[in-house]
Amino acid sequence: MRLKNLRIENLRNIAMLDVALAPGINVFVGSNGAGKSSLLEAAYLLSHAQSFRAGSVDGLIRRGQARMAVAASVCKGSGERRLSVVREDGTWRARLDQANVPQLGTALREAATVCFEPGSHELIAGSGRERRRFLDWGVFHVEQDFLPAASRYRRVLRQRNMALKQGAADAELDAWDAELAGAALPVDGLRRGYFARFSPCLERMLALFLPELGAGSMEWDSGWPQQTDLHALLAQRRGLDRARGHTSRGPHRADWTLGFEHAPQRSHLSRGQEKLCALACVLAQARVHADACGDWPVIALDDLGSELDVEHQQRVLEWLHGNGEQALISGVEIPAPLRGENPPARVFHVEHGQLRPLL
Ligand SMILES: Nc1ncnc2c1ncn2[C@@H]1O[C@H](COP(=O)(O)OP(=O)(O)OP(=O)(O)O)[C@@H](O)[C@H]1O
Ligand SMILES: [Mg+2]
Repeated sequence: MRLKNLRIENLRNIAMLDVALAPGINVFVGSNGAGKSSLLEAAYLLSHAQSFRAGSVDGLIRRGQARMAVAASVCKGSGERRLSVVREDGTWRARLDQANVPQLGTALREAATVCFEPGSHELIAGSGRERRRFLDWGVFHVEQDFLPAASRYRRVLRQRNMALKQGAADAELDAWDAELAGAALPVDGLRRGYFARFSPCLERMLALFLPELGAGSMEWDSGWPQQTDLHALLAQRRGLDRARGHTSRGPHRADWTLGFEHAPQRSHLSRGQEKLCALACVLAQARVHADACGDWPVIALDDLGSELDVEHQQRVLEWLHGNGEQALISGVEIPAPLRGENPPARVFHVEHGQLRPLL
């Protein structure tokens, strides 16, 4: 998959911009605060409807404006579709080929962008929430049934939590326990299926970027002990859940861990190694998407030059020459490995939210 163009309105310091993108590697260079990350963020918004940085999506709307819009012509094989998302009054509206799309998820499925950025190490060092969000995006794109299953689970979880807080009678909670356990199974099953595809891809990417750490191993945690029946566990922990006012076990607590032969715990990794692990996760996710959906997602690498040393930049760029269809790379300068032979397809200079083609 690739974006033929990207049209951005009122995203951070970008008032209005329409850029034609090339297949292959597109590089955006410019000084700090120029708008490079905002450009990559626009592509990310089309497939996530969320910022890749911490913070609310409404914080991305240009100061003083009420509305932000991102649109792109998305090419898959010989097909092309026009996708746009608009954020206004705290909600999203999406259009696909000039028609309104009532469900945002339907539109987001048309575009896929994975992103590695300066905060990506949180995927390794941060809370389970980061890893669930990352994994769920992959499951959402690969499994059509995931979105309704996850929405149902969230709804039932909210209702059970409300009942716990309000001190509902045991008979009412019996019903919520059964409902929640039932809703949990498809969510967990689809996630496990995805994780089974993701783990071998990740192992290969880790061997490419962090061979010195030895073999990598991944472990899945469903959010409750595997050998335990969730329905029975919910009943058993009800007293505890009542005291806390929320449900303590279930797919909303799912997580996965990463260990290495020579660095079994997360605390054994340096910050740079955390970043490389996160990069391996992002590229492995791109690979799973390509294998499952038949087309690559756009691969966005924000600030590549300042995140990785030159040797690791070289490895990513070599990988990109054999994999992926389109990459968007930003930095204060062109990454060193792209300055010799194998130059990027396009280079743009970014300044005050405006673009000037350099190549
Ligand atoms: N809501 C907003 N409205 C207007 N401008 C904003 C808003 N949020 C951020 N900005 C500004 O947008 C500019 C672009 O930010 P962006 O993060 O895209 O820069 P960048 O080129 O990636 O910089 P760096 O090299 O420091 O990462 C910054 O000057 C920032 O202060
Ligand atoms: Mg930036």
